[in-house]
Amino acid sequence: MEKPIGVLDSGVGGLTVVKSIQKILPHEDIIYFGDSKNVPYGNRDEEEIYRLTMAMLKYFEKRDVKMVAIACNTISTMADRFRDKFDFPIVDIISPTVDHIENMGINKMVILGTDFTIRTKAYERLLRERRKDYEISSEKSPRLAELVDKGDYRSREIYDTISGHLQSISQMGNFYNIVLACTHYPIVEDVFLELDPTLNYINPGFQQAKAMRMVLHAQGTLKKEGKGTLQILTSGFPEIYKAVVEKLEMLEAEDIKTIEIPPYKE
Ligand code: DGL
Repeated sequence: MEKPIGVLDSGVGGLTVVKSIQKILPHEDIIYFGDSKNVPYGNRDEEEIYRLTMAMLKYFEKRDVKMVAIACNTISTMADRFRDKFDFPIVDIISPTVDHIENMGINKMVILGTDFTIRTKAYERLLRERRKDYEISSEKSPRLAELVDKGDYRSREIYDTISGHLQSISQMGNFYNIVLACTHYPIVEDVFLELDPTLNYINPGFQQAKAMRMVLHAQGTLKKEGKGTLQILTSGFPEIYKAVVEKLEMLEAEDIKTIEIPPYKE
């Protein structure tokens, strides 16, 4: 029997990637872990994020997964710190998105991400390796991921926060392409579109799922038959995950429940 794939995020955001995995890799069995108890990661320091992520990776190691997707931009900024510690391949979300941006042939864009993602300049660095002349602006959101993780998508706070970001983006100059560089944001893409339908919002989830398919194909572990399953595990409340599965019109999960995973110790 083929092993499952692990997908992790600081909370519900990575489900935006799972939606694409269900489309692109329909036969795969997915175990998702969202660390909603500790969200937002984007306001934490690197060592804290490292320890929390190691705990999730160790859990996936125990579950004997064949690959892990880091469906979180914040954690993906430090993906290289994890790769040599595990036998399974680790696919981050930033590199496939940078590939996609390069293929789009665009010249300028705004990266909208968490405080941590923007501070590390991870996108900017990788993009500049491809092309020196990109015009890149960035906008950080210390609040949006946490608000989305609470599950009230029509709240005034979410509208006000997104509208504030769109206003500051409009003052940056003539930008059209906005990279939703936090997996929580595409959950409220409808609010972005309602507030400014003239912009092009880039959702990295699909690109990461494509990168995962390539890795599975290369290692010869792509599952080619049978209906894939989805188990959603969280350190927080399962109700919010149920609501996101419905909102994103994903295929249903067999199981959505709260579990405790052991903290990571060196
Ligand atoms: N969903 C995560 C990301 O893609 C992080 C949100 C957070 O925990 O701050 O960056």
